[in-house]
Amino acid sequence: HELQLSLEQIEKNGFDHFMLKEIHEQPEAIKDTYRGRLRINDGIIKMAGIEDNLERILNANRIIIVACGTSWHAGLVAEYIFEDLVRIPVEVEYASEFRYRNPIITSKDVVIAISQSGETADTLAAIKLAKQNGAFVFGVCNVVGSTIARESHAGAYTHAGPEIGVASTKAFTTQITVLTLIALKLAQSKGAISKTEFHNYLAEMEAIPTKVEESLKIDGHIQEIASVFKDVPNFLYLGRGYNFPVALEGALKLKEISYIHAEGYPAAEMKHGPIALIDEQMPVVVIATKKGHYEKVVSNIQEIKSRKGKIIGIVTEGDTEVKSMADYVIEVPETIEGLTPLLTTIPLQLLSYHIAVMRGCNVDQPRNLAKSVTVE
Ligand code: G6P
Repeated sequence: HELQLSLEQIEKNGFDHFMLKEIHEQPEAIKDTYRGRLRINDGIIKMAGIEDNLERILNANRIIIVACGTSWHAGLVAEYIFEDLVRIPVEVEYASEFRYRNPIITSKDVVIAISQSGETADTLAAIKLAKQNGAFVFGVCNVVGSTIARESHAGAYTHAGPEIGVASTKAFTTQITVLTLIALKLAQSKGAISKTEFHNYLAEMEAIPTKVEESLKIDGHIQEIASVFKDVPNFLYLGRGYNFPVALEGALKLKEISYIHAEGYPAAEMKHGPIALIDEQMPVVVIATKKGHYEKVVSNIQEIKSRKGKIIGIVTEGDTEVKSMADYVIEVPETIEGLTPLLTTIPLQLLSYHIAVMRGCNVDQPRNLAKSVTVE
């Protein structure tokens, strides 16, 4: 009898939960996302959905990204990448707000809908509205043949494979991957990026799966941190630039599965409110990787420290400055600033996972949440 495995156990492939399995699948999932698209030797990115509609997209007045939940956070990361590399104005909207506020949409707009399931009711309604107003709709979905994929004029799949855990993990990092590839392709077509920078990005993107793997290896260290903070009532997450959306996603992950109240903030907004919450009970996760406004984040950390907040720093390998101030540091490998979200996300997923497990929560099926929200 002990030898009989249930179908579910087989599907979990030795992991205790689907969420943990999916976190560990990210190196492969990211590879699957760029496979065939990222062609370093030819110095190109191959994406039919973009190539076939290149003029329309490059001539857009602006790009409007619509999504919900974790996919909306991927949209925020994309905003930074697109504006930085492609120089087209980007707006990121909660699909539910966008569809109900009489938005201005014209035939010069390109709407990118991001959805793991491709079935989220609000996102679907938002693209229908955009189509009625003449916009070009591009879908970034994971589920092949899903409604949003079918309703879009063109699109690119994430190829993350099935995601079973309600809390999204590999869908998020593969969404960022595919959106980065799109931005790079557009930037190259537009002549907005130098050959060298383009090549560096491609090479770094190819190295990301190995670096994600490295980031997964420090799981034991993250478990120790989780055991220290598992019983706190609140958590604060701070990040700047490309890592501001990662702070939001880290906080969402924790509240979704552990039911600990958590908030994500842009680090510089701390002084406009959240700083009032900081005392010796308050753990603050600060994403402080090198390059991205590092010195400014360091001064935020000093402010937290002088108020006795507990600091968990997410830092670049070899960092010493944050290490000397923080209570705990978690290192991630170095990469191009624009790709850091793919690495800084990993320890935050693991931290929320371990805290939730230690609190006895149902990690794969958190209370009140659904994997796919097909009703309003
Ligand atoms: C639900 C899920 C989230 C997901 C969101 C958007 O809330 O629990 O994990 O991020 O829907 O879903 P989508 O399938 O459109 O990405």
